[in-house]
Amino acid sequence: MKHEHSIKAIRGTFLDIRQTSETAEEVEGNTRYIKDGLMLIKNGHIDWFGEWEEGKDRIPKSVRIRDYQGKLIVPGFIDTHIHYPQAEMVGAYGEQLLEWLNNYTFPTESRYKNKEYAREMSSFFLKQLLRNGTTTALVFGTVHPESVEALFERAETLNMRLIAGKVMMDRNAPDYLLDTPESSYEESKALIEKWHKRGRLLYAITPRFAPTSTPEQLDAAHRLKQEYPDTYMHTHLCENENEIAWVKELYPEQNGYLDVYHHHGLTGKRSVFAHCVHLEDHEWDCLHDTDSAIAFCPTSNLYLGSGLFKLREAWKKQVKVGMGTDIGAGTTFNMLQTLNEAYKVMQLQKDKLSAFEAFYLATLGGAKSLSLDHQIGNFNVGKEADFVVLDPCATPLQHLRWDNSKSLADLLFVLITLGDDRTVYRTYVDGRLAYERG
Ligand code: GUN
Ligand code: ZN
Repeated sequence: MKHEHSIKAIRGTFLDIRQTSETAEEVEGNTRYIKDGLMLIKNGHIDWFGEWEEGKDRIPKSVRIRDYQGKLIVPGFIDTHIHYPQAEMVGAYGEQLLEWLNNYTFPTESRYKNKEYAREMSSFFLKQLLRNGTTTALVFGTVHPESVEALFERAETLNMRLIAGKVMMDRNAPDYLLDTPESSYEESKALIEKWHKRGRLLYAITPRFAPTSTPEQLDAAHRLKQEYPDTYMHTHLCENENEIAWVKELYPEQNGYLDVYHHHGLTGKRSVFAHCVHLEDHEWDCLHDTDSAIAFCPTSNLYLGSGLFKLREAWKKQVKVGMGTDIGAGTTFNMLQTLNEAYKVMQLQKDKLSAFEAFYLATLGGAKSLSLDHQIGNFNVGKEADFVVLDPCATPLQHLRWDNSKSLADLLFVLITLGDDRTVYRTYVDGRLAYERG
C-alpha cells in the first residue's frame, strides 16, 4: 500500500518532557522515560508513541522496524541563538565583545557577500548542527541577503525547521558591512516574502544590536514586524558592561538598553534576546510583560568574559529561556557541552542546574521560547518527528560512567557532563535520517 512508504517504526529507550513547566522543580515530574518504547511516524509527524508492548501490533506488516535498543532517543536539540557565518572563526583569541567584533567578526562576515561561498559554508554549518543532534536553530546571517538565501536553500533540501534572518546594521561597523534603513527594510521584506513559512522555514527580523542600528533602522524593523506579525525578532541584549554603557550614550533618551528595543516596538511573543547577562529589575519585568524570550549562551558568556546569566531570576520572573550556542563567540555546536557549561555557570553562582532542567531548556523549553512548542520539543502525538539517537557509551569513559549510574537523574547528568558529538549516533529531521555517525 502506497501510504505505508511514509510510515516508520522506531524502537528504543525514549526520554522527553511531557509538557511545559512553570517552575524548574516541576520539570522532573514532567519527565517521561520509556525503557522499551515505540514511535510510529507518518508523513514526518509522530503518529503513535508509547510502550513497545502496547504499540507493536499497530506496526504495518510491511514496515521495517528501526531497532535502537541500548541507545537513548531524545527530541532534537533546539539552539535559540547561533551565527552561521562565525563557524569559521570559533576560538578567536583574547578579546571581549566589542574588540572581538571589530578585530575578528566583521572582517569574517564580509566574505558572505559571495553567494557561492555562503552556500559552501551553509552546507558546512547545517552538517555541524546535525552531527551535534540540533534539529532547529534561530540563526544570524550577515548583512548580505545572499547569506540568508544560501542558508534557506540548503535547509529547505533537508526540510529543517530553521529560523534565520539578514542582519540589519547601518552604523558603527566597517562601511563594507553597512546597509541603510531603506535597503535593510527592502531586502528583509523580499526575504520574508520568499522564505517565511515556506515548508518549515521561518524568518527572523535581525537588527544586530542597538549600537549598530540608527533609530531610523529600528523603525524600519518595527514596520516589518507590523506588516508580518508572525515573523521573529532576533537580536542581542545586555551582554557586556561596555556594550551597555555605549547603548546608554547612543540612546540617552531611553530608559536603559532594553527600552531601546521596547520603544521601537521590538519586544513581544516571538522576540528573542541573546545573552541578557546584566539585566536591571525593570528589564526583567519588561521581558515578562511582553512575553519576550532569552537565549542563554553559557560557552559564549564565559569565553568573552561577559558574565554569569541569572537563570533563577528568569524562572522567578517567568521569562522564557532557551539555550544558545552562540557560535562563534560560543565554543561548541554541541548542546550537551553547552549544558555542561551552563551547570558550571550556576555553580559559580552557588546554585545548581539539575539534569532535568538542563534537558528541558535544550528541548521543550527551547521550543516554548520560540513559540514552537505545539510543533516540536517532545514526542507528543502530532508533533514533527525531529529526534536524536544518542549513544551513551560512545567512549570508554562514557561507557564506564554510564554503567555506574544508579538513577535516571544520574544517567542524564553524566550524559550532559561527558557527552559531545561522539554521543550523537543518528539524527532524524522530519522523520528522515539526516545524519549517521560513521
Ligand atoms: N553583539 C553584537 N553582535 C554580536 C555577535 O556577533 N556575537 C555576540 N556574541 N554578541 C554580539
Ligand atoms: Zn550572538
